[in-house]
Amino acid sequence: MKVHFPVELLPWGRTVDVEAGTALADVLFPLGVEFPCGGRGKCRGCRVKLLHGALDPTPEEQRLLSAAALAEGWRLSCRHQVHGPLKLELAQWETAILQDESPFHFVPQEGLGIAVDVGTTTLAAQLVDLETGNVLAVRTSLNPQARHGADIMSRVEYALAPEGAQTLTRLIREHLGGMVTDLLGEAGAPPERLRRIALVGNTVMHHLFGGLNLAPLAQFPFEPATDGTLVFNPSCLGWNLPDSVEVAFLPCLGGFVGSDILAGLLATGLPQQEKLSLLVDLGTNGEMVLGNTQGFVCASTAAGPAFEGARITCGMRAAAGAISAVTASRGALECHTLGGLPPRGICGSGLVDAVAAALDLKWIAPSGRLTCGTTLPLTPSLHLSQQDVRELQLAKGAIAAGIHLLLGQAGAELSSLHRIWLAGAFGNYISRASARRIGLLPFPPEKVIPAGNTALRGAKLALFDWKSVLAGYPTLRHLGRHVSLHECPGFADIYGEAMIFPAA
Ligand code: FES
Repeated sequence: MKVHFPVELLPWGRTVDVEAGTALADVLFPLGVEFPCGGRGKCRGCRVKLLHGALDPTPEEQRLLSAAALAEGWRLSCRHQVHGPLKLELAQWETAILQDESPFHFVPQEGLGIAVDVGTTTLAAQLVDLETGNVLAVRTSLNPQARHGADIMSRVEYALAPEGAQTLTRLIREHLGGMVTDLLGEAGAPPERLRRIALVGNTVMHHLFGGLNLAPLAQFPFEPATDGTLVFNPSCLGWNLPDSVEVAFLPCLGGFVGSDILAGLLATGLPQQEKLSLLVDLGTNGEMVLGNTQGFVCASTAAGPAFEGARITCGMRAAAGAISAVTASRGALECHTLGGLPPRGICGSGLVDAVAAALDLKWIAPSGRLTCGTTLPLTPSLHLSQQDVRELQLAKGAIAAGIHLLLGQAGAELSSLHRIWLAGAFGNYISRASARRIGLLPFPPEKVIPAGNTALRGAKLALFDWKSVLAGYPTLRHLGRHVSLHECPGFADIYGEAMIFPAA
């Protein structure tokens, strides 16, 4: 007979019944807990606090967690299995996934379509009535591949191990197939009414969904094996839909710049702008496009996970209890948390604010050196370390250098930029003034526009222009040029300079 144990999870207050010997990661991942290093015991991102039960510290925990943290009960959930009843407090909480509710122009057509934003961390899908443009159902979820690495490079690393790519391809296809079924079920729509499904995502997501070889993306010149539209019929994906349904993953723009950015071009209309505009998706993999009606240049840059709160001492995702905004008030930092809850950690927008405020207080020098002591206190129990500030410098330096180099490629100046769209969740929440203060986005805040989930909006627009999808958007892609930033002259120097914080 199989033995089961109760595992109580706080703050949810939920108890799950778990078979003895089950990996804690297998229990927690479906509940929304992320494993930033893919469960390799390297990052501390999956830590949980043991409130009751026994989990003996492992060698990795003794290396990564302080004696005090271990004594308090902190453990790395990726290192343990369930061998008795447990009560755990999660360091990560559920977070909202950005979808899209903005109006758009379309030509009415028959039937239904599904638009999917395949993000590295999250998935968002909408069922759309092609006659009315109405969204009939929405599904969001964590990307099931995320347990094998939070960022795209660790996903590539996992994919290159034996069986890795097949596992990741199977996971995403199965999961999205389930989301499609759920969407139709929620709307009470017969599958026969479904005409097409448009998927967008970065180049790694494109390759993994398509079952393509990722090796070319892992070595110089880091260009994709195939960058065109991938077209499938549902049966070859294992999806239980009529074979008349067309499934297409939109084409990439080059390198790590994927169809999420192509969709961003459709959503913002950047190629139709007379004046020079910039679209930036701030994330672990920062993607950016600069252009106007004359054409565009695009690039991606490895910013690291600081904007998502990862690899920061007290970092967490933008979820309840995360410090999301920080101001300098009467010579001290004042922290505001999501949900107004007691602070449990800091997310990307809070980190940018905290460093901006600390620069104003002169607690951080332009070089990034802490001048207020060995740590930067946020609350009585939370602080930023020197290394945390360095992580943010790496991230903001990568984005700022990318923008600088793209402007150079276009023969333009910062001041000639008319408008900057910030795509994605982080772009929605970040303070534009703080982003300017730390030199991340060196523009007047009024020029910067949070643009929401442009990838999902673009995928919806693609449902109404299926001819272009199947043809691979030749006209649009012909207007653009992918730039390998690391091959640009002076890249290292420009990156080094961009890591410095502006003087007040
Ligand atoms: S240490 Fe567990 S996921 Fe990184």
